[in-house]
Amino acid sequence: MTTTIGLIAPGEMGAAVAAAVTDPRARVVWASHGRSDDTRRRASGAGIEDVGDLADLVTASDVMLSICPPHAAAEVAEEVAAHGFRGCYVDANAVSPDTARSIDATVARGGAAYVDGGIVGGPPRQPGTTRLYLAGDDAIGIAALFADGPLEAVALDGGVPAASALKMAYAGWTKGSAALLLSIRALAAAEGVEADLLAEWTRSLPDLAGRSDRAATSGGRKGWRWVGEMDEIAASLDAAGLPGGFHEAAAEVYRRLSPLRDATDDTTATRAIEALLHPEEH
Ligand SMILES: NC(=O)c1ccc[n+]([C@@H]2O[C@H](COP(=O)([O-])OP(=O)(O)OC[C@H]3O[C@@H](n4cnc5c(N)ncnc54)[C@H](OP(=O)(O)O)[C@@H]3O)[C@@H](O)[C@H]2O)c1
Repeated sequence: MTTTIGLIAPGEMGAAVAAAVTDPRARVVWASHGRSDDTRRRASGAGIEDVGDLADLVTASDVMLSICPPHAAAEVAEEVAAHGFRGCYVDANAVSPDTARSIDATVARGGAAYVDGGIVGGPPRQPGTTRLYLAGDDAIGIAALFADGPLEAVALDGGVPAASALKMAYAGWTKGSAALLLSIRALAAAEGVEADLLAEWTRSLPDLAGRSDRAATSGGRKGWRWVGEMDEIAASLDAAGLPGGFHEAAAEVYRRLSPLRDATDDTTATRAIEALLHPEEH
């Protein structure tokens, strides 16, 4: 029997995850209504069949896979539930444990099962680069859709929201520390000592100059999407009784970098620092 997977949406990650499905009885479909030309191009490039709008997607799908910007995750779940989805809903977005629990409750009200997901690594094209962590009663069944392919699907022992919690902890360090590094370099620039800081880093912390350059490039390209992710991490820390302020500040760093998303070339550290120090000019 065929398992139809409804994908929301074929973004950079979603299209690659769709291509990583290895179960020969599975097919992936999506709904192009309301989506951008970029997303349509990616979907047709990945050979993902377009069924029309969200109502058609709900009707066609046994499994719904949500891979969209974190700030849209809860709204997407509401819309899918409102259309009467009763299959297995997998949310693989970077959301807090509380948001994951709330999405679980939303889709359960509509009669669907829920699997909590979290992706670590870039779009999976070859084995060993990317993990899809899964938690919930159907986690093993969802993991089987990707068996022996480029995406390593890992069913966690903890129930919902173990996968989201793991993703928050992981990204809290990677993207949080990148935002801190950029802020620190911008502080040195504001005080006229950036060259001196880079020289000191070369002597005592030799990886930091390169890491801050890379943080500028990735923050320029994806910072707009990381604002929501940092807010979710701050909320996760708050809910655990820990200070969430680190990641509230990281969200502000990425908010200031957001206007750089449309740049045609890579964001340099100099340009990122300019955007951080003078947000009113961007
Ligand atoms: N890219 C990575 O390296 C990476 C790594 C780990 C985890 N992830 C996770 O993957 C998720 C998506 O990331 P991405 O890189 O694929 O982002 P992306 O390339 O920006 O794609 C986002 C997709 O979601 C669609 N979308 C936006 N708002 C929507 C809404 N309200 N309803 C339905 N669809 C909507 C977009 O369509 P339009 O084009 O029409 O806006 C686009 O197709 C995020 O939760 C992220 O945390 C990504």
